[in-house]
Amino acid sequence: MIELTTAFPVCIAGTGSYLPEKILTNAELALRVDTSEEWILTRTGIRERRIAGADETTSHMATHAARRAMENAGLTADELELIIVATITPDTPTPATACYIQQNLGASRAVAFDISAACSGFLYAMKIAKRLISSGAFKNALIIGAEKLSSVTNWEDRSTCVLFGDGAGAAVLRVAAADEGAILATEMGTDGNLTHLLKIPGGGTACPITAANVNDHLFTLNMLGREVFKHAVNRMKEAAEKVIERAGLTADSIACVIPHQANLRIIDAIADRLAVPNERVFVNLHKYGNTSAAAIAIALDEASRSGAFKRGDNIVLVVFGAGLTWAAAAIRW
Ligand code: UT7
Repeated sequence: MIELTTAFPVCIAGTGSYLPEKILTNAELALRVDTSEEWILTRTGIRERRIAGADETTSHMATHAARRAMENAGLTADELELIIVATITPDTPTPATACYIQQNLGASRAVAFDISAACSGFLYAMKIAKRLISSGAFKNALIIGAEKLSSVTNWEDRSTCVLFGDGAGAAVLRVAAADEGAILATEMGTDGNLTHLLKIPGGGTACPITAANVNDHLFTLNMLGREVFKHAVNRMKEAAEKVIERAGLTADSIACVIPHQANLRIIDAIADRLAVPNERVFVNLHKYGNTSAAAIAIALDEASRSGAFKRGDNIVLVVFGAGLTWAAAAIRW
């Protein structure tokens, strides 16, 4: 059952992604910090991650992903009406990274803004864009998850530096024709009581950058991993169950689950709790690590291009991140 508030059904018309070429392997990390290839692989499922070069800013990666998504959707820059970028690593604090992407694309008619919901940002953007299109306010939207996490990683902290990577993913949303698929149900949630579990403590008004604190690792990601792990499993399971129920699906009728790519043990636990066999759960974490808002967007693009599902199939996307935040979407492709 499509959400009752939907005036116009909204579909995903195209996807795209971009990964920097430079690969950082577990073996290389083991030379930098007190860790081992074996620890990283068995505790996380990650084998390697991509690291952006100096010229590969968040907007640069996002623009490449966006062009691929627009090409895939058959949408020109002139036609684009809305750009929403989910990122915690903007090019600049202001203006929004979305504005640079609008300029790069030459999409001068498009309204462009960023949202900050960490790893959940792409699905937050999906829900916002879906509502704005289904209400008739916009005909189409480009949503992007893009991160240069290597710029906010403490490369001396073994508990976090082995986890993250860089990249971007994008999707074009538009009003769906009667014979096309649609976003069937969406869900988002936040628990601000748990802000302390995963954060970049400095760089904002609470702790501005000063000459005195610049070397204190306040401007890099801090995480209480074990605690985050526990919440991630519970919240993603609940969010996924909600959209599955609202969309009228069952575990058997889902062709593919695409979860946030943070830890293979979390992904396995989600698959188990949703009773979806592992072969119907998409994983690319081993290649890219955790790319925060970009992860689900890159995974959606890779999964659709690799034939993990086809037109008419039901898929479920589910994410979790700092905030704490979580979100899910059920989609008929
Ligand atoms: O994207 C947003 C959402 N993020 C997540 O969902 C991440 C969730 N958390 C996780 O994925 C996992 O908690 C981690 C992968 C971050 C950590 O795995 P863990 O199994 O929870 O390990 P732990 O933090 O409980 O640490 C176990 C041990 C500790 O040593 P002791 O105290 O038992 O002696 C750590 O110091 O592993 C040690 N450790 C490491 N050892 C080798 C932590 N990092 C490393 C490392 N190499 N890189």
